[in-house]
Amino acid sequence: MKAARIHSFGGPDVIVVEDVPRPVPSAGELLVRVAAAGVGPWDALIREGMSKVSPPPPLTLGSDLSGVVEEVGPDVTGFKEGDEIYGVTNPQFCGANAEYAIVSAKMTAPRPRRLTHVEAASVPVVAVTAWQMLFDYGTAETKQRVLILGAAGNVGSYAVQLAVHAGLHVVSVVGTKDVAHARALGSETVLDYQAGRFEDAADSVDLVLDTVGGETRERSLNLLKTGGVLVSVVSADPLPKRSDVRSVFFYVEVTSERLIAVSQLLDPGPLTTQVGSVLPLEEIHTAHKMLAGAPHKRGKIVLRVAT
Ligand SMILES: NC(=O)c1ccc[n+]([C@@H]2O[C@H](COP(=O)([O-])OP(=O)(O)OC[C@H]3O[C@@H](n4cnc5c(N)ncnc54)[C@H](OP(=O)(O)O)[C@@H]3O)[C@@H](O)[C@H]2O)c1
Repeated sequence: MKAARIHSFGGPDVIVVEDVPRPVPSAGELLVRVAAAGVGPWDALIREGMSKVSPPPPLTLGSDLSGVVEEVGPDVTGFKEGDEIYGVTNPQFCGANAEYAIVSAKMTAPRPRRLTHVEAASVPVVAVTAWQMLFDYGTAETKQRVLILGAAGNVGSYAVQLAVHAGLHVVSVVGTKDVAHARALGSETVLDYQAGRFEDAADSVDLVLDTVGGETRERSLNLLKTGGVLVSVVSADPLPKRSDVRSVFFYVEVTSERLIAVSQLLDPGPLTTQVGSVLPLEEIHTAHKMLAGAPHKRGKIVLRVAT
């Protein structure tokens, strides 16, 4: 089978699409015929050797996928051959950018029926990250005010939609080109980070969700009410601190239960997917150059593998 692999860490050019044996599922695993696979910033971190969770090379890149169960490993219940599923391969976020992938059954759920494989492959990590930011770590409540840094990005767009659906007042921070998009997602207030200091234009908030990091994250801390929470998924160090608020960083934990919770908002709505550039598996180098800033559409980069 074809797989997009790295044999050493480095830039997009270290990726090779090569033939490797089809893997065999062990206990708790599924062998999935991959229809489409998502590409995200963490794939670039793994390729560069900057990830704290991935194994050393050689490895097959990719974590998000949508496809069809080809074989069920021992000790798996709830899935059978032919099931259409979506999810994440494993806690090391590797193995999805290939014609077949081994997937932990506990990180998988039935594919939302309304979505195509390409749309479904765009969802798992970013939607579950947004869900956990808001509900697990932010413990968001109806009518609270939430500031979302990077609200037009892939995690941010889900965070806005989930917060609006949960009845929060959403203040989005985005670039000039994304102001209309952030409004369309349901943001009550949209602040353009390229037009001035967003922190001077916003009222205080109960919760900050950070997908940007750096100085933007530092500056957002001043907007938190006493007792508020800053939830960041960008990096743990150094996490900005203020004595009367809580700051937290976490790595996403994609589970079947969380995927099902997301599916329940995707199938009937109101949640919508944000697919951007779609490329064949063989053009994964281009996808990784897009992660590094090469021109691409807004939304998730997805590799079309067998659709
Ligand atoms: N810890 C975890 O488990 C976990 C899970 C998922 C993702 N992540 C991390 O979360 C981050 C976001 O991921 P993503 O997939 O959502 O990336 P993304 O789609 O590239 O989104 C990032 C967004 O931030 C915007 N942005 C850049 N600078 C900004 C600023 N100063 N103020 C406001 N917005 C700004 C970007 O817009 P422009 O076009 O204006 O630059 C873009 O829309 C990445 O660092 C990723 O590695 C972590």
